[in-house]
Amino acid sequence: MENNNNKKVMLSGIQPSGELHIGNYLGPLRHWPEMIDEFDCYFFLADLHTITVRQDPAQLRKRVLTLIAQYIACGLDPEKCVLFIQSHVPAHSQLAWVLDCYAMFGELSRMTQFKDKSAKNADNINAGLFTYPVLMAADILLYQPDFVPVGEDQKQHVEICRDIANRFNGVYGDVFKVPEPYIAKVGARIMSLSAPESKMSKSQPEGCVFLMEKPEDIMRKFKRAVTDSDTERCVRRAPEKPGVSNLIQIYAAATGKSYEDIESEFDGMGYGKFKPAVGEAVVETLRPIQEETERLLADKAYLEGVYRAGAEQAEYIASKTLRKVYKKVGFLPR
Ligand code: TRP
Repeated sequence: MENNNNKKVMLSGIQPSGELHIGNYLGPLRHWPEMIDEFDCYFFLADLHTITVRQDPAQLRKRVLTLIAQYIACGLDPEKCVLFIQSHVPAHSQLAWVLDCYAMFGELSRMTQFKDKSAKNADNINAGLFTYPVLMAADILLYQPDFVPVGEDQKQHVEICRDIANRFNGVYGDVFKVPEPYIAKVGARIMSLSAPESKMSKSQPEGCVFLMEKPEDIMRKFKRAVTDSDTERCVRRAPEKPGVSNLIQIYAAATGKSYEDIESEFDGMGYGKFKPAVGEAVVETLRPIQEETERLLADKAYLEGVYRAGAEQAEYIASKTLRKVYKKVGFLPR
């Protein structure tokens, strides 16, 4: 990636904690290629963050590799952005320690995600879960980004990152750029096929269509999708018809057709025709991504090349910031 331009810098981390599904793809992921054109982008797999919850080591390794392949297949061109793995760049852990000493126990205790996660993992409330936002602040501040695109659930973490950066800058001068959260184009908000009142999520696999799912399984899930009990059985968006509205939204996202066109296309046809049509549209949308992912996964040397080059580029920038920080806090250079 060239750095000799005036593009703003954007950085985002992705937790390799689950399989990607069409909610991720038809939502934010589809817009990433546009972001790459507009910004200098850093994307990394936040594997250090992921071990705050117990992971199966073999699965974690496999998932990180699969995700890299999937992101590339979805259009994250590694020639145009820096794509790397967090644990490959030691500066993340190193800066996190320094920032731990500039983050306050009280403010970390107030993080909503910490409270939620400790409630959910009562048998494993580890210190990493507590200092998670500090590592995230380190991830961000190392690259001096202008923007950090995050979803609603991570806004508080970007806020604390800004607080930590300001606190540090207050003592040592302008060391860190204080980033802005960036409300990325979210695209469609895809709901569960089996419980359309809640967001599509891997924890409800029957209502969730995974990116790598087989066509016959995709078709089955769509044919079984919960619609509504109203008698008109008409393909029309309405607040009291969350299941059908969701299917219309998925069909629109997959085909690029407008809601109005879809409603007239299926006018008078009922759900029996509509549901498989949505399934087929999704199968066709996913087909090239699945094929490209498989092709990439069969080419381990290429993937290794991508994440090694990514780590090198990231490390170059990250280590510069870390050196500056070490100097400012008074560490004697080696
Ligand atoms: N915590 C983020 C999430 O769960 C992932 C993440 C880690 C991240 N480090 C980051 C996001 C830095 C943006 C910037 O979604």
